[in-house]
Amino acid sequence: MCGIVGYIGGQQAAPVLLDGLAKLEYRGYDSTGMAVYDGREIRMVKATGRLKVLDALTKGGSTLSGTAGIGHTRWATHGSPTDTNAHPHFNGSASIAVVHNGIIENYQKLKKKLENRGYQFVSETDTEVVAHLLDRYYTGSPLEAIAKVMHRMEGSYALGIMFRDHPDEIYAVRKDSPLIVGKSSQGNLIASDVPAILKYTRSVYFMENEEIAKLSRDSITFYNIDEEELVKEPSEISWDISAAEKGGYDYFMMKAIYEQPKAVADTMSPRIRDSRIVLDELGMSDEEIAQISKIYIVACGSAYHAGVTGKYVLEGMARIPVEVDLASEFRYRNPILDTQTLVIVISQSGETADSLAALREAKTRGSRVLGIVNVVGSSIAREADHVLYTWAGPEISVATTKAYSTQLVALYLLAMKFSSVRGTISEAEFTSMLEALQQLPRQVEFLLGSQERIQKFANRYLAADHIFFIGRGLDYAISLEGSLKLKEISYIHSEAYAAGELKHGTISLIEEGTLVVAVLTQEELYPKMLSNIQEVRTRGAFVMAVANANHADLEKNADYVIYLPEINPYFTNSLAVIPLQLFAYYVALGRGLDVDKPRNLAKSVTVE
Ligand code: F6R
Repeated sequence: MCGIVGYIGGQQAAPVLLDGLAKLEYRGYDSTGMAVYDGREIRMVKATGRLKVLDALTKGGSTLSGTAGIGHTRWATHGSPTDTNAHPHFNGSASIAVVHNGIIENYQKLKKKLENRGYQFVSETDTEVVAHLLDRYYTGSPLEAIAKVMHRMEGSYALGIMFRDHPDEIYAVRKDSPLIVGKSSQGNLIASDVPAILKYTRSVYFMENEEIAKLSRDSITFYNIDEEELVKEPSEISWDISAAEKGGYDYFMMKAIYEQPKAVADTMSPRIRDSRIVLDELGMSDEEIAQISKIYIVACGSAYHAGVTGKYVLEGMARIPVEVDLASEFRYRNPILDTQTLVIVISQSGETADSLAALREAKTRGSRVLGIVNVVGSSIAREADHVLYTWAGPEISVATTKAYSTQLVALYLLAMKFSSVRGTISEAEFTSMLEALQQLPRQVEFLLGSQERIQKFANRYLAADHIFFIGRGLDYAISLEGSLKLKEISYIHSEAYAAGELKHGTISLIEEGTLVVAVLTQEELYPKMLSNIQEVRTRGAFVMAVANANHADLEKNADYVIYLPEINPYFTNSLAVIPLQLFAYYVALGRGLDVDKPRNLAKSVTVE
């Protein structure tokens, strides 16, 4: 979603802002803008479209001179993507400039009140309300005005603010939308995410809810909403900028796909010691694990699909009932929770608005929350009672691949840990699973070698109208993810079905030449899947099967087969996902699409 960058220091601000915004492009956006204080006034340039338009308009930032500024990439929510609706927004006299990520939920009420007082609005955005409200309460102290405005706004917001009267300061505000502050010898910065400022500093403050930061060239001061000064310690970012760059790949997505063996190993290896799964970082005692009576897994999108896999694995191994729910549903459906219920919230970004709200709902109702999170220090990581980090590294492409794969690993680790504590699997089963788990990075690597073959196959389906994915049990879980990956980046309509459910309606959509991707890795369900494949082939479907290597006979029953190395059945999703990711990638690439920036999508969905 929207990206914010701000800079104040000794260098020209606009090139720093452009550079930072480029690092936030992955978040998804449809317009851009910058405001820079030029020594006399705040000057602003905004543009619809890609960042290169803003770059060209400002000649790489050189036409906006000044050493303090704020920049923005906008993902439209209120008002269509136009130059006028792009951020920054000014108050009437252009003395206050604001960039915003989030949604001001009561903006209509506030706008009406401001209009009654004579304020005139030029855009359709909720953000413009913030600029005028600041104007309304500003009497010389930015801090006082900001605090007053915060008391009146409902919703989520990360804000970057400049006041013409205070040219040596920029302000940052955070409530329920991510914002960090970077401290560097060349000046100080604000940003929505670490990659935007990593070129300048590794020393980062994670802002908490309802905090205000005042940045000058050589100082950073934090305040709470009551304008009291706060003492905060910076964190050191341990990963390198190269982790957030393409490193020779055409797209971030391909780089992330190829980073999966490492991401899987990094997430798993530190937690396996002396043939045991060690999750001390969770801070959950064996007694607490033994007392869990029910698990809810709550997440959105691909993280939800990881949760569907988690249900099969946790129920199968640890024999704990698991319900998986979409965070946007869970938070409003009055879920039945108690102190014995563990709620697992899965999120790459740790900032997804619905997942965060679901976490808060669960805590309010007395349940403990375990976050499976990739971004260290993110809201979900900070607010969960227990955190299991996935060590995927920064994931830049909008469509998740490596983070999803590490979420699966985190769920396997939890399931095995819970099973061994609760005694639901034998020592021998545990040992064999642990061995299988440790094979995963190598097997993922092996499957990545089938890239060329999958690309050739994908090229035959560039003009497809519909593609179906079918599977049973865990194979249904991976079908959901395969289908989402394909549709989100290729724009080909696709659906995933539990294979046994096809004949209850969906099979009417199968016609001559329809591609059906069938996943059959679960041995006990193999004969059932063969029947389902027959059902669709009889109706003209072309079937691509993803199956275990021991089924060479499948070539008689399917039109194209991808074989997976032998693995414990609980872990097959980690292998089956690889050809499905590659297939989606090459279909999108073949259709000439920007794989990293699918239309209408944002990386971190920080609004409802
Ligand atoms: C799809 C994708 C999304 C995310 C979803 C949740 O490729 O990336 O479906 O999985 O928006 O995001 P996080 O994991 O950040 O909560």
